[in-house]
Amino acid sequence: MTNELLSPELLPLIEARTPRYTSYPTAPVWSADVRTEDFDRCIEQVQAPAAVYVHLPFCAEQCSFCACNQVVAGRRQAGERYIAALETQIRGLALPQDPLPVQRIHLGGGTPTWHTVDELGRIFALLRERFELLPGADFDVEADPEITTDEQVDALASLGATRISMGVQSFDAGVLEAVGRPQRAERIGAILSRARSHGMRGLNIDLMYGLPRQGPEVFSRDLDQVIELRPDRLAIFGYAHVPWLKPHQKRLEAFGLTDTQTRLTLFLMAHQRLMAAGYWAIGFDHFALPGDEMAVAAREGRLHRNFMGYTTRPDVELIGLGTSAISEFQTGYFQQTANLAHWWKAIEQGKPTLEKGILLSADDRMRQDLIRSLMCNLRLDWQALATRWGIDPLVDLAVDLERLRPMQEQGLVEIDQAGLRVTTGGRLLVRNIASAFDAWLHRPGVEAGPRFSVAV
Ligand SMILES: C[S@@+](CC[C@H](N)C(=O)[O-])C[C@H]1O[C@@H](n2cnc3c(N)ncnc32)[C@H](O)[C@@H]1O
Ligand code: SF4
Repeated sequence: MTNELLSPELLPLIEARTPRYTSYPTAPVWSADVRTEDFDRCIEQVQAPAAVYVHLPFCAEQCSFCACNQVVAGRRQAGERYIAALETQIRGLALPQDPLPVQRIHLGGGTPTWHTVDELGRIFALLRERFELLPGADFDVEADPEITTDEQVDALASLGATRISMGVQSFDAGVLEAVGRPQRAERIGAILSRARSHGMRGLNIDLMYGLPRQGPEVFSRDLDQVIELRPDRLAIFGYAHVPWLKPHQKRLEAFGLTDTQTRLTLFLMAHQRLMAAGYWAIGFDHFALPGDEMAVAAREGRLHRNFMGYTTRPDVELIGLGTSAISEFQTGYFQQTANLAHWWKAIEQGKPTLEKGILLSADDRMRQDLIRSLMCNLRLDWQALATRWGIDPLVDLAVDLERLRPMQEQGLVEIDQAGLRVTTGGRLLVRNIASAFDAWLHRPGVEAGPRFSVAV
């Protein structure tokens, strides 16, 4: 990828607000009319092996940049109450098999390691009651290095966790102070080596760019430090400033927001430095060492994408548990209320916890498949799409392909009789390329507007 992306004609594209496409259709078009009966039917018919996502929303403190569904718990008892509610939810699932075979369990947040060792043990035991982890399955946990103790890493390993994904964001004291995230670098290395000593693989670090005070020099040092730690995987996220959704982010405006040119410089720097350090670029924001399962899956065209991000497992149905969690079934998506107080109350009163969702049409499913292929493999094969969906892509997608013409002329995408290929320069703009196929986004009267974040 070269600095050609800095060309002024591309700036409007880069600045366009675009969905991230972990799913399709994306959440803004989901409806509040979603019915609990539809969700229950999907659960009763869920295909095994499935995947499970559990949302654990609590954090010790709130980082000013955070766009996740998280809550700073004032009292430790909140953990107890949350687990009791999860227990009700998990025990109440009308699964077609008991236990249901699963090939992935992911604890996300918030910060799962905010919970004590005892609480984590209870959550694992609960999951094991209803779900059977198949041999070789992934059991991964998100962790904040500052609050994650050695004892917790040992406990997670003995409970069967296979991977840890750590938020790091930056190593720089000035950046960390600006975003309100106290963090000691030595804890990050210590957790990585402890997890490795337990045989955990696929260890991931999230790094961000475009945070306050994180100019090229600072970010370059962040990259030096992360390369030195050599995690198996890295996610490099551009700071998404979405204060209309997360008003606390306004605190960062006093520092001035990073302009698009600088963000692009930072992203390209990450790309070049990580490739030079031996990492493979995966999709548009992930990197992995060549021997890591994610890099192998990408090489073999086996990469998938769902609400948990990129995954090396085949596309399977996903059961989402806990506040704000999304379930992703073949026929529809369902999200539980993201308001913790409402979610708790609903569970405790035996009421539905769903907030919104969408049932998928055949056209939605075809576009979901197409957009995911693009996000994972950066190419489309017309014959494969024709076989899977009974369409003639060059005819049935003519309007969508026409939207891509300017990007084709700029060399970001190549289209011929066999398929479509995102070029190296287009990789960064794969979200914009995918959006050409988003029928919901192009409906009359619908505008991407400020609901989404910018591409870089
Ligand atoms: C649930 S958090 C990770 C685990 C843990 N809570 C931590 O912070 O260490 C998931 C990741 O989302 C990313 N993230 C959060 N807010 C973001 C934003 N506004 N823009 C881009 N990435 C963001 C961060 O990189 C973060 O590590
Ligand atoms: S980045 Fe992680 S630790 Fe910080 S507020 Fe968000 S979820 Fe919590």
